[in-house]
Amino acid sequence: MPASNLTFTMMTLHSKLSTITVLALLLTACHRPFTSPSGNIELNASLNEQGTPVYEVYKNGQPVILPSGLGLTFATSHGDTVDNTGWQLTSISRDKHNEIWETVWGEEQFIRNRYRELTLHLTKPLHSTLSTLHLNIVFRLFDDGFAFRYVFPDNDTVTVLDEHTSYTFAQEPQVWSIPWRTEYYEALWTKQPLSRLDTVCSPITLELADGTYGFIHEAALTDYPCQNLYLSTPQGSLSLSTFLTPWRKGRQVLRDKAYLRTPFATPWRFVILTPDLRSLVASRIMLNLNEPCAIDDPSWIRPMKFIGIWWGMHMKNWTWRQGPNHGATTEHMKDYITFAAEHHIDAVLAEGWNLGWEGYEGINHDRFSFVTPYPDYDLEYLSRYADSLGVQIVCHHETSGRANEYELDLDTAYQFMQAHHMHAVKTGYVAPIITTNDGHQLNRSQSGVRHYRKVIETAAKYHVMIDNHEPAMPTGLQRTYPNLMTQEGIRGQEWNAWSQDGGSPASHVCTLPFTRMLAGPADYTPGVFNFANPIIPGTRVHSTLMNQLGLFVVLYSPLQMACDKIENYALYPDAFQFISDVPCDWKQSILLDGQIGEYCVFARQDRNSDDWYIGGVTNEPRTITIDWTTLHLDPEANYEAILYRDADDADWQANPYAYQIDTLLLSANTPLQGAWGLSIYLANGGGFAMRITH
Ligand code: NOJ
Ligand code: CA
Repeated sequence: MPASNLTFTMMTLHSKLSTITVLALLLTACHRPFTSPSGNIELNASLNEQGTPVYEVYKNGQPVILPSGLGLTFATSHGDTVDNTGWQLTSISRDKHNEIWETVWGEEQFIRNRYRELTLHLTKPLHSTLSTLHLNIVFRLFDDGFAFRYVFPDNDTVTVLDEHTSYTFAQEPQVWSIPWRTEYYEALWTKQPLSRLDTVCSPITLELADGTYGFIHEAALTDYPCQNLYLSTPQGSLSLSTFLTPWRKGRQVLRDKAYLRTPFATPWRFVILTPDLRSLVASRIMLNLNEPCAIDDPSWIRPMKFIGIWWGMHMKNWTWRQGPNHGATTEHMKDYITFAAEHHIDAVLAEGWNLGWEGYEGINHDRFSFVTPYPDYDLEYLSRYADSLGVQIVCHHETSGRANEYELDLDTAYQFMQAHHMHAVKTGYVAPIITTNDGHQLNRSQSGVRHYRKVIETAAKYHVMIDNHEPAMPTGLQRTYPNLMTQEGIRGQEWNAWSQDGGSPASHVCTLPFTRMLAGPADYTPGVFNFANPIIPGTRVHSTLMNQLGLFVVLYSPLQMACDKIENYALYPDAFQFISDVPCDWKQSILLDGQIGEYCVFARQDRNSDDWYIGGVTNEPRTITIDWTTLHLDPEANYEAILYRDADDADWQANPYAYQIDTLLLSANTPLQGAWGLSIYLANGGGFAMRITH
C-alpha cells in the first residue's frame, strides 16, 4: 500500500531535481511513513502523473480514503490562471506537537493537542513572468483524524477560482447532512447513503460500513468562503468534492471564490474518524486547529444563562414593534429581571427594544437604530434596576441582513452597550442574501465571513460577548476569540412555534448532538414549559417537559437561554429548579450513551464545583442505564442525586407535563438498582435531567 505510492511520488520529481543531495533528502523523507502519534492513522500524499497533488488515508492498516484530490485553481495578480497540474515537489518537512491548553470556557477545561505534521512544498514555473510559484500543503495527523490546509507563501494577490479537495471513500458511508441551499442552516438533518447525496452544507457526519464514525468540516475560517460538499463519481468511485461559496456581482454568481492577499493559509479541512460515538463527540480536532486565544485578558468573558422577551413574539402574544402588544416594555422587562434575580439566572434578553422593527415586520423600510430604545422601554431605569439586582441585560441587534449599515454603526452601538453595562449581544441577519460592503452576498461567502469576524473583533474591543444568529457555520473560532460564545445555524426551538410542518420531530434533538453540535455551541433555546399553541394549533414542541430539562445538558451553549415566558416557569417551580441550578461551563463532558437520531445521554461536570449534571433525550420510549463508574466519583464521598424524570404515563403528545422528582443517596460503592447502574425510563419524546452533588 503506502510504499507503492511513495515510489510513484518519486517518479514525478522529473529531472528538475538537480542535485543528488535534494533527491537523497526527499527519499529519506518519503520513505518514512507519515502516521498519527499512536500510529493508527496513516496518510500518504504525493503528486500524480499530471503533477496534481493527491492523498490517501489508512486507519489501522485499512484504506478509508482512497487516492483523492487536493489543490486549487487560482488566478495571480499577473492575470495567469494557474491550474492544478504541473506541480513539482521540492521538499518535505515534518513537525510534531504535544501540549495541553486551557479553554476560557467550554465543554472541557483542558484539551490535549497532539499531532504529527507534514508539509509538501510545491513549486511550478510561471512562464509569463519567468518566476516560480510556491504552494505548500500542510497535513496534521491526530489519533482521531486528519487535517490539511493550503498555504500560499509568496507575496501576491490571488483569486481562488476552485478548490479541488475531495474525499473518495473506500466503503460507501451513511451520511447525515442538510442541503446546501438551506437558509441559515435551519433544517432537519437527514440520513442517506453517500450515493444519494446532492450538494450539502459542511459539516456532515458519517457512519462507515465497519462501524467507524466520521465527521467532515473545516476549522479556522476567518477570511475565506464556507465550504460545501457535493457528490462526484470519478471513475465510478464515490467521492465528496468541495464547492466553495461563490462571490456575487449584482444577481450574477461569479466563479471567484476567495480574494487573498498572500502569504495566506486557507482554513483547515478536517476529518474525524473514531470507533464509536463517545469518541466522536469528544474529538477536539476543530478547536485544536484554531489559533490560541487572541484576547490578552479574557477574564471578562463569562458563560451565562438567560431568559428573555422572546418566545412571546414567536408565539405571537407580543410584537417586536411598538403597539398595544409590544413585548419589550419597561414593565415586562422589570418582571423578567426580577424573576431572573430570584431564580439564579444571570441575564435577560430583550428583543424589540429599539427603533426599526416596523421595517422588519414589513410596515416601512426604516433602518434599525442600535442606540434608540422605544419610548415605552426605559433603558436608563432598567439598567439601574438590573445592576441593583446583579442581573445583566443582553442586548439585541437585528440587522435584517444589512451588514454594511451595521458596520457603520458598530462602534457607536458597542459604546452604547458598554455605557449601559451590557456585555452580551444577540446579533441577527434575517435575509436570504445579506448586504455587505461588497453588495448582495451569501452570508457564508468570503464577504459574509469577513463581516462576522469584524463584529467579533469589534465586540472584543468593547468587552462584549456574541450570540450570532443567522451565522456562517461555526468552525471553532471561539478558541481565538472566546467572546464568540454561541451561534444559531441550527433549526432551533423557534421552529416549534411557527413552522408550517408542525414543529421538529422528537428525533431532531437526538440528531443534533452528533451533527451540528460538533461544529460548536448552538443557541437552540431549550426550556419550553407550556406546549399549547393556540396560534398554530398543529404546530408544537414534540417533547415532554423533562425532555426540555435534559436539553440543558445535551445541547451545549455557554450562553444558554431558557426560552419560555416567566409565567409558564411559575407553573412548575420544582422543575424550574433544575434550570436555576444547571451551569453552562464545564470541567469535563462525557457522552454516556446514544444513537444518532434516537437518543442521547450526556454527563457533564461543573467547571466551578465537583457537581455532575446528566441529561438525556429520546425520540421514542426507552429505558437507559447510567453506569456510575464512568463518572469516577470519589469512593470516600456520599452523593445526593436529584433526578427529574418522565412519569410512567408521560408522552410528548398526550401527557407532556407528567414528571416525577426523586432524591437518591449514593456513593461510588453503593450499587443502585443492581450492579453499578441506575435505570431511567424516558417517555415518547421524553427525557430526564439529574444533578449530583456532595
Ligand atoms: C431570527 C432569530 O433566530 C430569532 O431568534 C429572532 O427572534 C428573530 N430573528 C428576530 O431577530
Ligand atoms: Ca433563526
